[in-house]
Amino acid sequence: MIQEEKTTVVSPKEVSDDSSQLDLTLRPRTLPEYVGQEAIKGNLKISIEAAKKRGEPLEHILLYGPPGLGKTTLANIVAREMGVNIKTTSGPAIEKTGDLASILTNLEKNDILFIDEIHRLKTQIEEILYGAMEDYALDIMIGKGPAARSMRLTLPPFTLIGATTKAGTLSSPLRDRFGHLFKLDFYTEEEIQRILHRSAGILDIKIENKAAKRIASSARRTPRVANRLLKRMRDYASVNNEEQITVALTQQGLQSLGVDEIGLDRTDRQILITIIEKFNGGPVGLNTLAAATAEECETIEDLYEPYLMQIGFLDRTNRGRMATPNAYAHLGIDYVEPTNNQRLF
Ligand SMILES: Nc1ncnc2c1ncn2[C@@H]1O[C@H](COP(=O)(O)OP(=O)(O)OP(=O)(O)O)[C@@H](O)[C@H]1O
Ligand SMILES: [Mg+2]
Repeated sequence: MIQEEKTTVVSPKEVSDDSSQLDLTLRPRTLPEYVGQEAIKGNLKISIEAAKKRGEPLEHILLYGPPGLGKTTLANIVAREMGVNIKTTSGPAIEKTGDLASILTNLEKNDILFIDEIHRLKTQIEEILYGAMEDYALDIMIGKGPAARSMRLTLPPFTLIGATTKAGTLSSPLRDRFGHLFKLDFYTEEEIQRILHRSAGILDIKIENKAAKRIASSARRTPRVANRLLKRMRDYASVNNEEQITVALTQQGLQSLGVDEIGLDRTDRQILITIIEKFNGGPVGLNTLAAATAEECETIEDLYEPYLMQIGFLDRTNRGRMATPNAYAHLGIDYVEPTNNQRLF
């Protein structure tokens, strides 16, 4: 008997339990192993080859896109393909200018500095980063008051790779200093199936083609979600004494997780139903929607909305969020065209 559970298994958010350890083993290590994102891979391949030939660092790279699409994975692959070290930190982890100074001065020639959640850097730290990115130099103030003087430290040439789910909130001086801006797209279902077969191989579990197809349709076109669902189905297979993940088992497993055939979970449905039933289909402001669904604004914005918009179930207008006719149809609710002109906005 499979228990109903409340946690949201299709959230593309990273979780720090033992399954994140498994994520590390599933993480591709080379460009050819990295499925999809062909345009980005093509560009990177050329830049990596050219930089290696010249013995120079790569230009700074900004990777942006919704959670779980492979930004961190790609940063690590770039380091490996370049044959250099990667130092990883994150925007909120760099609290003082001294923190950044010590990270930068400890880099070796051509190393990669990976800053996750780069949109959360403090302004004063961002400003120090400008010089470091542009001139490989660090201007720091020594002392305070009239005796204060500025000192310039020369840094080894390095590559900054920044990752963000919110490119829009990045300041333009920072954005302008990246040589490459790569937007990661949602994967196709066929790519997700390839990822599932690859992961099943690593996890040493057999999976029917049809089962991979079924999981892929519910994986929100996101590798992290696909791998997580695969691991859950592997658990179901083992408690049911099945040697492989079959399509029948997958149907049952996904249903018990509350995940439907297009990857919506209870929270997605609750968000849509709230917009439709409480706000006549919208528009409704994010804060109001968050309060009505008891979710955080950020959770809705980062984790739920990108996919709902991608599949055309939600519109973001300047007056708020609206449910689309497709969302009504999926939920089996009759669509009523709003009587006033609100859909014009
Ligand atoms: N292109 C890919 N091919 C195969 N597996 C992938 C690919 N991209 C991501 N994955 C898998 O998905 C998992 C999540 O990827 P990753 O942690 O790189 O996402 P992210 O974009 O950094 O997410 P976040 O915004 O939450 O930091 C990885 O552990 C990896 O196993
Ligand atoms: Mg990441």
